[in-house]
Amino acid sequence: MSNLRYLTAGESHGKGLTALMEGVPANLEITAEYINNELARRQMGYGRGGRMKIETDTVEILSGIRFGKTLGSPVALFIENRDWENWQHVMIPSPPAPLPLGEGGQRPGEGKFSHVTRPRPGHADLSGAIKYNQRDIRNILERSSARETAARVAVGAVAKRLLEEFGIRIYSWVTAIGNVSGQWSVASGQKEPPKVGWALPTSSIYYSSLIARCSSLEELYKKAEGSDVRCPDAEATEAIKQRIDEARNSGDSLGGVFEIVVSGVPVGLGSHVQWDRKLNARLAMALMSIQAIKGVEFGLGFEAATRPGSEVHDEIFYKISPDPSLLKRGKSYPPLEKGDKGGFYRKTNHAGGIEGGMSNGGDIVIRAAMKPIPTLYQPLKSVDIETKEIFEASIERSDICAVPAASVVGEAVVAIEIANAMIDKFGGDSLEEMKRNYDGYIEYVRGF
Ligand SMILES: Cc1cc2nc3c(=O)[nH]c(=O)nc-3n(C[C@H](O)[C@H](O)[C@H](O)COP(=O)(O)O)c2cc1C
Repeated sequence: MSNLRYLTAGESHGKGLTALMEGVPANLEITAEYINNELARRQMGYGRGGRMKIETDTVEILSGIRFGKTLGSPVALFIENRDWENWQHVMIPSPPAPLPLGEGGQRPGEGKFSHVTRPRPGHADLSGAIKYNQRDIRNILERSSARETAARVAVGAVAKRLLEEFGIRIYSWVTAIGNVSGQWSVASGQKEPPKVGWALPTSSIYYSSLIARCSSLEELYKKAEGSDVRCPDAEATEAIKQRIDEARNSGDSLGGVFEIVVSGVPVGLGSHVQWDRKLNARLAMALMSIQAIKGVEFGLGFEAATRPGSEVHDEIFYKISPDPSLLKRGKSYPPLEKGDKGGFYRKTNHAGGIEGGMSNGGDIVIRAAMKPIPTLYQPLKSVDIETKEIFEASIERSDICAVPAASVVGEAVVAIEIANAMIDKFGGDSLEEMKRNYDGYIEYVRGF
């Protein structure tokens, strides 16, 4: 069992979302504002639907935090669904009242939104209705909705706060939306290098090219934060927005790719000794559990399969007289070669910071692919579960593209898994104890 665990609960149009975390060490400073900032980041992005205008997510801390610090007890978080007022007659937990005699009106809970018999392609609707024996598909879609990711972003915020104490930072940016990444068209199959800076297709060495072009991850991240589509390149941002407009006008939707980089991770998180302890496996599962994520790759990822071994594996070097500052919290170890630093180091990071299921001290680099939003303004064919008639799935309101939001959710789930691995390795009941354990380990690594 993991030392840090969490569950979420809540329906998309229910009263709200609840998250329960256990295993957060005591004395970690955290505020609702910090969590709200992360929730707000999830709500941004060009191409979102009407829902985001209704919901301004704010967290209510129900337990586990007192005077701005964790207590070591379970942390319970609640995010109210602002739209609840309009939906309570549909989502009310109590049984519906009997129909008044002689009146043919609807019961509470029966309205134009209430009874759904038309499964939407690309959603949990049909499989969920069959599996859970539901004639009203609303009983499935309310929980399978990506609204749930707000709860995971709240949990991820607590995890991020913990990681900050150890100098670990998590960054994300969008590398492609639809077939547009910079001016490179994956669909056209053109092989010329992109004219626009950062964005390369999924299978390229995106991260390395970013590092080469940017003085720091922080700078890159700031650019992504300033972009409507979380793409660090201004020209690429415009090209992507245009593509989203085209999709909107033709009633279509788009997916894309985002990249996550974790810096400051010490060597040795995760383990090679058992399948479910492998850090890459845990991170991949976390990312694959985000709605609509269909692929995850580390470092070179699928590109590695196309290269000979000599162009894939990161050679190991050593320099005498290690600079003591190198081994402080938050500094990668062994680092990529930067300046005159000693100890073990690599000149490349094709592995994406993980070898044999363990962090190797380099930046962890992950990309995730999101499929296009399945609810389309241009309807797709499906079959009514009651009448068995073919119909064209219509929509209420939907995002056209949610890749920027998904990248923020990606940061959250990665933060949770890295925090989990940190607690597994350095776990203590208080933050102070965890730091003592961490410092002792780093001291040991220094002398290795
Ligand atoms: C942040 C985010 C927002 C999403 N918004 C929508 C949406 O507005 N409409 C929709 O049909 N799907 C949306 N999705 C995708 C669906 O939730 C997802 O495709 C669906 O639950 C089926 O799950 P699966 O694709 O993992 O099989 C969103 C996903 C994410 C991560």
